[in-house]
Amino acid sequence: MKIGIDKIGFFTSNYYLDMVDLANARGEDPNKYLIGIGQKQQAVIPPTQDVVTMAANAAEKILTDEDKQSIDMVVFGTETGVDNSKSAAIYVQSLLGISSSARSFEIKQACYGGTAGVQMAADHIAMHPDSKVLVLAADIARYGIKTPGEVTQGGGAIAMLLSVDPRILVLDNQSAFHSENIMDFWRPFYKREAIVDGHYSTDIYIDFFNKTFKDYCDKFGRSLTDFSALVYHLPFTKMGLKALRTVVDDSPHSQKLLKAFDQSKQYNAHVGNLYTGSLYLSLLSLLSNSTDLHANDRIGLFSYGSGAQGEFYSATIAETMDSRRLASQVDSVLSDRIKLSVPEYEKMYADGLPINGGNVTFDAANDHSRFVLLGRKADQLVYKDQQA
Ligand code: HMG
Repeated sequence: MKIGIDKIGFFTSNYYLDMVDLANARGEDPNKYLIGIGQKQQAVIPPTQDVVTMAANAAEKILTDEDKQSIDMVVFGTETGVDNSKSAAIYVQSLLGISSSARSFEIKQACYGGTAGVQMAADHIAMHPDSKVLVLAADIARYGIKTPGEVTQGGGAIAMLLSVDPRILVLDNQSAFHSENIMDFWRPFYKREAIVDGHYSTDIYIDFFNKTFKDYCDKFGRSLTDFSALVYHLPFTKMGLKALRTVVDDSPHSQKLLKAFDQSKQYNAHVGNLYTGSLYLSLLSLLSNSTDLHANDRIGLFSYGSGAQGEFYSATIAETMDSRRLASQVDSVLSDRIKLSVPEYEKMYADGLPINGGNVTFDAANDHSRFVLLGRKADQLVYKDQQA
């Protein structure tokens, strides 16, 4: 039985910040951000978007009415939850009109939550082949104005529909994982921004990649030459390149992997980190931009979530994967964005739900997304479907 990703949808805000403008404002050489970090732009998320609206906006692009009735599980991976109790999944299920006969819940382990959802979905479908599972991965990456992490901010959502006989990616059911209690990045309850030991986090990321890649190869008798591409969780695009460089050499196959990596980082370089969704935006970037990939080619996927959990798993490209269709969806989101100046970004950064409670109403007149957050009233979040 073939199980995997049948559809992928992507959404991000229609505002972005240019990394050359940010470098100039912070007194840095723009090449540090463009080359040293590998980021060109970052999404800036307005107060009218949160993980619920972004995930709903990503999912509504891919789901048919029939899908909505067939989905029997909605899994939401996020580290930007909107409530300490109620899951973001229930809100999305209701906004999209997904059958109430579905299981709906949220999972958390930093940026790993999306992959946990994918693996859980695959296991569920193996037991229930008629099932369709909606996996959502959405986050807002915030570090703090004028911190080293600022250039690695971003945000957005990925929605994936998993089923049997998938049209995009067939999972191998072959995976290696590693977890350890590590303080490289975390966000205490009282903070909207992450606390991060930046250089330590990059070392741990590479260490976990090396451990899980080796473990995967030992377990399944594979080596680098079995892969047509490796895709990575990309907190910033140079991070994946640093990890890839630890396993490639100057052979023609390694050059092919470096070229594939270049294709897999294109979208991420314009959106920034979207935590749980970053690996899957990179997968979309590879599938959309590669001219060398063919049906049945094997791809390795490295997922990393600080704290820390790593997983390396593999999948093959489905015969029906349509790269032009995937590309047109992402291109339409990215080509339609408004550039903010640094002061405009700083103002939007400071906006949002008051952290200590209270009613607030946001003006959604400039947000043309289908689903928006209108604010908070009597301690309840107020969402709106602007097409209803
Ligand atoms: P920094 O300390 O300001 O940067 O912050 P740096 O001094 O290390 O320089 C970065 C690179 O730019 C270096 O290259 C420099 O040489 C180069 P490298 O040695 O790394 O190859 N450079 C230049 N290149 C060209 N022209 C120039 C120039 N100047 C310097 N003129 C840091 C960097 C990543 C630490 C910071 O941005 C940060 O803390 N980011 C947030 C943490 C992060 O993203 N960590 C990644 C691993 S952890 C992870 O992936 C999980 C995460 O997604 C969260 C989750 O799981 O939920 C973050």
